Amino acid sequence: MTKVPKKIVIRELKNSFGSKQVLSGLNLDVFEGESLVIIGASGTGKSVLMKNIVGILRPNSGSIKIDGEECVNVTNNVREKISRKLGMLFQGAALFDSLRLWENVAFGLISLKISGREEARLKAIDHLKKVGLSETDADRYPSEISAGAQKRVGLARAIATNPEILFFDEPTTGIDPIMGEIVDGLIVSSVRSLGATALTITHDMDSARRIGDRIAMLYGGKIVWIGKTEEIDSSRDGFIQQFINGQVDGPMAGLITENSSV
Ligand SMILES: Nc1ncnc2c1ncn2[C@@H]1O[C@H](COP(=O)(O)OP(=O)(O)OP(=O)(O)O)[C@@H](O)[C@H]1O
Ligand SMILES: [Mg+2]
Repeated sequence: MTKVPKKIVIRELKNSFGSKQVLSGLNLDVFEGESLVIIGASGTGKSVLMKNIVGILRPNSGSIKIDGEECVNVTNNVREKISRKLGMLFQGAALFDSLRLWENVAFGLISLKISGREEARLKAIDHLKKVGLSETDADRYPSEISAGAQKRVGLARAIATNPEILFFDEPTTGIDPIMGEIVDGLIVSSVRSLGATALTITHDMDSARRIGDRIAMLYGGKIVWIGKTEEIDSSRDGFIQQFINGQVDGPMAGLITENSSV
């Protein structure tokens, strides 16, 4: 059997804000072509982890390698080269309110100088169609469409540059279960058609099961469990049991008080 290369390797990653240590020496390997889902309670640092990987936040220490290349404390040139490999759907879609939908989708194509404006518009419309929106929708603004449609536009924006690695932060939060299933299906098909590596954050277990080849659980600034999606239900791990059954009592009992300052 050929060995699958590691796409992302994270070692001893630490990130704190003031006295609050959010990531406390996190280690994680993401294999090329896999879809890894990160679960964990609110405020445990899932978004912070993703922002560290995509370079929006800088860790205090530790290493993040993508394709074997260090991403922490690198020059702008290296950062830009890495950014070209990445596509991201932000928590809450985070579209640019003042830009039309096609301009949102075309943003990476234009800013990374992959396409000129006209070509970028055509590509953006193509991507909007892939996620079920029409050419007439392309000229609308984010405030004119529903939350579910905004997620789909965010997804179209994430895949527009044909990235090697896709990040999805809470893709189904704030939308109804049916739209959630549609968005999950779009994620799975986009990842497959791009042959991309995907990292998704969610606290929606149905979504995690649909999207993930493997699931990792974040708690206390570290990955406390990682395994294949089909292994999660039979796992006897206390963290996993408590999380998937939504129990107040368990190893994460201190959670509510720990995060009450959020
Ligand atoms: N830029 C920042 N400055 C200061 N504190 C921050 C910053 N970003 C995140 N935090 C803090 O880090 C902690 C983790 O936040 P994060 O957004 O990563 O949680 P999360 O796991 O994504 O939660 P949720 O499931 O609610 O999205 C929180 O206590 C948050 O207040
Ligand atoms: Mg978050």
